[in-house]
Parts: sequence; C-alpha cells; structure tokens
Amino acid sequence: MIVLGIESTCDETACALVKDGQEILSNVISSQIDLHRHYGGVVPELACRRHVDVLLPVLDKALKDASLSLSEVDLIAVAHGPGLVGALLLGVQAAKALAFALDKPFIGVNHVEAHLYAAWMSAKQRPPLPALGLVVSGGHSSLLHIDAIGSYRLIGQTADDAIGEAFDKAAKLLNLSYPGGPEIEKLAKEGDSQRFHLKAGKIKGRPYDFSFSGLKTALLYTYQEIMRSQGNCDQQTRRDLAASFQKAAFDSVIDRLKLAVAEFGYQTILFGGGVTNNQTLRQRIRNELPKVQTLWPELGLSLDNAAMIAGLGYERFKIQGQSDPYTLDALTRIPLGEPIQRL
Ligand code: KG4
Ligand code: ZN
Repeated sequence: MIVLGIESTCDETACALVKDGQEILSNVISSQIDLHRHYGGVVPELACRRHVDVLLPVLDKALKDASLSLSEVDLIAVAHGPGLVGALLLGVQAAKALAFALDKPFIGVNHVEAHLYAAWMSAKQRPPLPALGLVVSGGHSSLLHIDAIGSYRLIGQTADDAIGEAFDKAAKLLNLSYPGGPEIEKLAKEGDSQRFHLKAGKIKGRPYDFSFSGLKTALLYTYQEIMRSQGNCDQQTRRDLAASFQKAAFDSVIDRLKLAVAEFGYQTILFGGGVTNNQTLRQRIRNELPKVQTLWPELGLSLDNAAMIAGLGYERFKIQGQSDPYTLDALTRIPLGEPIQRL
C-alpha cells in the first residue's frame, strides 16, 4: 500500500510517500526557519501563508522523488493535530481535496503519536511491547505507556513549557539563533555543566510530570546577575550557562525515565521529537540506562516530517479499516491515551 503523508502542524511543510508503513520512497520537508528566525519563534499567520505557497510544490517533489504519480497513491494520511489551527487546516483541507478528487481513502493521525512511530519505523526488528515512549519536541514533553500502536496510556506530561520550547527561549536569552536546541547543544559542548546549579521543576504528587518554565526563569536570573556584577557575559560563561541549562533539562528527563523503568519494569524505550536530535541526550541515556533497549528515530525522522505521518497512517488504516469522514477536523489538542493508573 502506497501512502501519501502530509504534515503541516507548525513550521514545516512536508510530504512523503511510504510503502506498507515502513519503506520510505520519498521524504520532502520545506522548513520555514528563515521566515521565523527574525522573531525568535514561530509566527502562526506567517506559517499558514507559507504552507499555502509551498504545499503543492512539496507534493510534486515528493511524487517526483518517489517516481510515482498521484493515481498510484492508495491512502492519504494527514496530521490533523495537535498544532497551530490555521496551519493544521491547510494540511487537512489538502488531504480531503486530494482524497475527493482521486476517490481514495484518507485518514487523520496524531502528530505526537507519529513522533513515536518514527522510532518504530526506524527499528530493524519490531520491538517488544509494552514499552515506554518519550516525546520531546518544541510543542510536547510526554511520557507514554505503549500497549500497542494506537493504544497508549499517559504517564506524564509537561505542566507548562515543552522542553524544546525551553531550549528555544534559553537560546534567545543567550543571543543564539532560532531554533535554539541545536545552538545550545553546540555551545554546551565546550561548557562546564557544573558551574551553575540550575534545576528543572518538580510538581508535588505528580512525579512523572515535567516543568521547564522555572528553569528558563532561573537561567534568566543567573544571566542578569552576571551582567549586573560583571557588566558583560563572556563567551566561556555563555558556554557554561548553556551546559548547565542543558544538564538540568536532561537530568529531569532521565530521572523520570529511570523512575518509570524502576516502577513499571520497561525493557524498551521509544524516543521521538526534535530534541532527540541532541547527541548529548542520546549518549547520557545510553550510559545511564544501560540495561534498557533504546530506539531512536533515524536521521531525518526526529524533526517534523511526513514519513512518520504516512507510516502511522498505514497502521491506523489497518486498525480502522475505512476512510475517515469528511467531517474530520483540525484539532489544536488531541489527548493521547487516558492517564495511567497501574499496570
Ligand atoms: O519535533 P519538532 O520538529 O517540532 C515539534 O513537534 O515541536 O521539534 C522542534 C524542537 C525545537 O524546539 C528545537 O529547538 C528542538 O526541537 N531541537 C533540539 C535539537 N534539535 C532540535 N533541542 C535540543 N537539542 C537539539 N540538538
Ligand atoms: Zn513535531
């Protein structure tokens, strides 16, 4: 089955063609980073307009790269949430219009679930289930129990900023460009992560939930204090700030992973989302959870992409057995599983 995936939840316009949920025939991503860099974050209205401009050229390129024509597509999968409503609408309307014109089924998938599926489709062998899933991106920080593809229970999520968002805001403070995650990672490589004692938040009675907004404020106050006492913030201090911030954010993630592994006995963890591009995070998790099998998205599948949407669309269509109705909506929020009680 050839599935066309469409992704337009935020600031990437992407189309991909994937065979049987696994074999990527093409994966085209048009990034809007240049458009938003000037503002230090995504401007929703600009994002929507750019999606309108580039969606069809991106689709054409995806078909060309896969040497396929539209008539050879069997199913259209689209990320219908969560995300920016205007941006989502563009993808959803395009999917419906294509499905109607081609008389083919279409299916809406959850963008966060697709981030986890990226690790699943990158795996050489199907990992054993149940497993633990962690999505860390610009919009999400979620810890999930995976019973099966399509069946999840929520273990923890962020109470305020997503981790990638915190990286982006921290980078802005340190005068780094957008998106901030890769810039912080680069700067942190030569920094001393022990110099400043920063910590991410904890929420009373909710050990698996994340909180990153206090960490961002702590970085701001530390920076302001340095400026007040020294009159400037030299390059080595900026490196040390970046390293201390990154350490604190990842300590918080790794603590929760360890806790979940100890409490629920997971043997496998699937990772997804843009922050999993961070090599320091990957290395730390391998070192600090040596007995657990870790599955990561392969190159090109960590950040927003449409291959993961097409892949998950295939699986969901197998479960559902029919097209979604034309009343399918763009949803800014879609819960992924009920909160977990006990296993
Ligand atoms: O998954 P993604 O493309 O978009 C969302 O679904 O939100 O993730 C983008 C986020 C941005 O916040 C970006 O700063 C972060 O992923 N990111 C990183 C790295 N590469 C991207 N964060 C930390 N280290 C990185 N190397
Ligand atoms: Zn994403």
